[in-house]
Amino acid sequence: MVIFLVFWLTGPEPRNLFYYIFCTMTITNGRLGFTLFILISLVIISCEDTKNINDDMKAEYNYQHIGDSLSIISQQVLLRNVSRELNAGGPTVAIDFCNLNASGLMDSLSNLYGVTISRITTQPRNPGNMASESEVGILAGMMNSRSSDTLVMGGENVTYYKSIRLGMPTCLKCHGSTDDIEESTLEIIKERYPDDLARNYQLGDFRGAWKIQF
Ligand code: HEC
Repeated sequence: MVIFLVFWLTGPEPRNLFYYIFCTMTITNGRLGFTLFILISLVIISCEDTKNINDDMKAEYNYQHIGDSLSIISQQVLLRNVSRELNAGGPTVAIDFCNLNASGLMDSLSNLYGVTISRITTQPRNPGNMASESEVGILAGMMNSRSSDTLVMGGENVTYYKSIRLGMPTCLKCHGSTDDIEESTLEIIKERYPDDLARNYQLGDFRGAWKIQF
């Protein structure tokens, strides 16, 4: 009893609720108080754990949700721009429009949500879009799985990936075989991207992924 009173007076800051409940219950009720304290603690701890898990799930859901929306918007913007230029001037003119930087909206989206939006692949046309070593595994996983997206949470870094497939015949005009790509277009591609690896794809092929870094 005296020992607990000493604990009580010399103990940590009041914010340590557990400590005070422990002292009070043990001082006032002896062994029963101690047993009750253990039981109540277990309940509180298990509730806290559930709360943390729920918070984590919520955060994960939010990232997934925002990442998904941003990748869809980005894809639409890009598609609209490429299609518009294809109709207006053909593939040779449209070439510049499969580049994310060609669209001011991508910057606005990035600024608005504080994210960095890019695309990665293991067969890039633009070498700047080459997947990192760890991302090669992520892409392989996505290519072989039914799921079209994945969230990677490592410490403070959260990154969302959403797969890109060659979903329309239009894509083949610049990423298909030599039969699909007009000669003049091919010339420009070769000239601008001498290390181009992004040809000879077929409709429906896995092409890479959107990468949204939070
Ligand atoms: C008019 C030609 C053209 C069309 C049509 C086109 N692309 Fe591209 N694509 C390019 C060029 C050029 C780049 C390189 C852009 C850059 O410098 O970042 C590129 C880059 C990409 C990249 C980034 C990875 C890399 O290889 O650098 C992806 C992913 C991609 N295209 C997917 C598609 C999909 C999917 C379609 C169809 C919806 C499509 N493209 C249609 C010309 C085209």
